[in-house]
Amino acid sequence: MGLMSGKRGLVTGIANDHSFAYSIAQSLLREGAQCCFTHLPGEKMERRCRGAVEKLGVANPWIVSMDAGSDADLDNVFARLGAECGSIDFLVHSIAFADKDWLKEGKFTSTPRNVYTQAMDISAYTYAAMANRAAALMPNGGSMVALSYYGAEKAVPGYNVMGVAKAALEATNRYLALELGQRNIRVNTISGGPLKTLSAMAVGGFGDILDWVEKKAPLRRNIAGSDVGDASLFLLSDLARGVTGQVLYVDNGYSIVGL
Ligand SMILES: NC(=O)c1ccc[n+]([C@@H]2O[C@H](COP(=O)([O-])OP(=O)(O)OC[C@H]3O[C@@H](n4cnc5c(N)ncnc54)[C@H](O)[C@@H]3O)[C@@H](O)[C@H]2O)c1
Repeated sequence: MGLMSGKRGLVTGIANDHSFAYSIAQSLLREGAQCCFTHLPGEKMERRCRGAVEKLGVANPWIVSMDAGSDADLDNVFARLGAECGSIDFLVHSIAFADKDWLKEGKFTSTPRNVYTQAMDISAYTYAAMANRAAALMPNGGSMVALSYYGAEKAVPGYNVMGVAKAALEATNRYLALELGQRNIRVNTISGGPLKTLSAMAVGGFGDILDWVEKKAPLRRNIAGSDVGDASLFLLSDLARGVTGQVLYVDNGYSIVGL
């Protein structure tokens, strides 16, 4: 019996086998969970996501296309999930987006309105939009996890508008936890250390962030995807039954260092 035996849920955000969502699914599957997946629309996105899910060893995977910026796509995914799988026990929100032209040092002040609102929409609002639809499929309670970063609370050069969106995501996490707790649904966020993924490479100076964290983090290393995978597993399992509304740092301790 694994920690997640008998539990089923949705994992969003697998772009390839470097994605945080990939490592999270790997931990969940190892402990017996049944995972459904979404990918961004488009043949290339589907091929990459399917390739990663195949690598995870999932036979006949449930994979549906979803642009989280579209209410129609969100409605379709959760309606199909309900119709084809019944109730669910967990949700993984591992998506974010901001136009990379504005993720460069010195480019925050001039962020255009549409770039700002899109970053907030895809990277923060969608946690509420998905949580609302997922909660309707959790009659027996459940658990949700999203991914944030230290740039939510400190000004990290180049992280810019994404930091603003992550601050909104962390606040969204708390308000969701407050309301959904009455339905025995727990809502948490992991603040992960830097990891070389497709999205991360869009952040200007990302290589310097990796070098700096490796030198300064108490554990003197950068995280692996599996560190976030196993921490997500904890939050999504019954082991974390008393934990909700939290931001859990999985960053080798970097966030506690003053200098
Ligand atoms: N990599 C890091 O250093 C780091 C650190 C902390 C937090 N995070 C967060 O982890 C999460 C996952 O990112 P990752 O680093 O694994 O990168 P990734 O590029 O592998 O994953 C990002 C995912 O977001 C999806 N996405 C983007 N726009 C979308 C939309 N409109 N609708 C649906 N999906 C959309 C992409 O398809 C992709 O699968 C993000 O929230 C990211 O901000 C990343």
